[in-house]
Amino acid sequence: MSARVPLIAGNWKMNLEEWAAVELAGSIADGLPNGRADVVVCPPFPWLTPVSAVLEGSRVALGAQDCSDEPSGAYTGQVSATMLNGLCRFAIVGHSERRRDCCESDELVGRKANAALSAGMTPIACVGESLDVRDAGNAIAWVEAQVDAILAAIPGDAIGRIVIAYEPIWAIGTGRSASPDDAEEVASAIRARIAEADPAAAETVRILYGGSANAANAASYLDTPNIDGLLVGGASLKTDSFLEIVAAAG
Ligand code: PGA
Repeated sequence: MSARVPLIAGNWKMNLEEWAAVELAGSIADGLPNGRADVVVCPPFPWLTPVSAVLEGSRVALGAQDCSDEPSGAYTGQVSATMLNGLCRFAIVGHSERRRDCCESDELVGRKANAALSAGMTPIACVGESLDVRDAGNAIAWVEAQVDAILAAIPGDAIGRIVIAYEPIWAIGTGRSASPDDAEEVASAIRARIAEADPAAAETVRILYGGSANAANAASYLDTPNIDGLLVGGASLKTDSFLEIVAAAG
């Protein structure tokens, strides 16, 4: 495990009714083990306010699952980073489900990361390859291009404030996780890429793994030198499994 403070992020996606989201947040806050990991949960937009009330005074931070790249205006259905900043410390940007379902390009994801930073939030910028890309031997080049687009869109002095989540698409929600060695290989390539832009920032940027992470496999990722945390979908929807993952982060 690296010296960087681990980050365990729960991505609740479009799940949970309001009462269930509030209950889950409360039980996570109540059961949080003493440890060094930063913990964040990312509920659906309408539940941010009720969940924030439950988390007040706890060590559990709040994150959004997306933000607009625009500050305000005629963008029906979008939510700006400045609107979220009062509630959220983090915003996931570029999740593969949004890249797929909302046609989000690398450039748009970069602008969203920049919008989150400008509003004072920490973007958790997601990158990751499809199975076709991996099978063709192009996973690292693919992910490097996604990282380059993020780095190109943010100010040089903000690189140290981002979080990158490596989430191979074929591992998300499939029960088929990447091996720790494969995930570490990509995480190490991401860090090297960041180092080309800013060697000091590369030492501090946290790189997460995501894709069927669970209580049984969490430690195997967290034990690698370049993976500093986990972005957890399915296993973040149950208090016990999420808290076991947090405990694995020490
Ligand atoms: P999963 O989702 O843990 O259910 O695979 C991870 C994610 O999409 O962030």
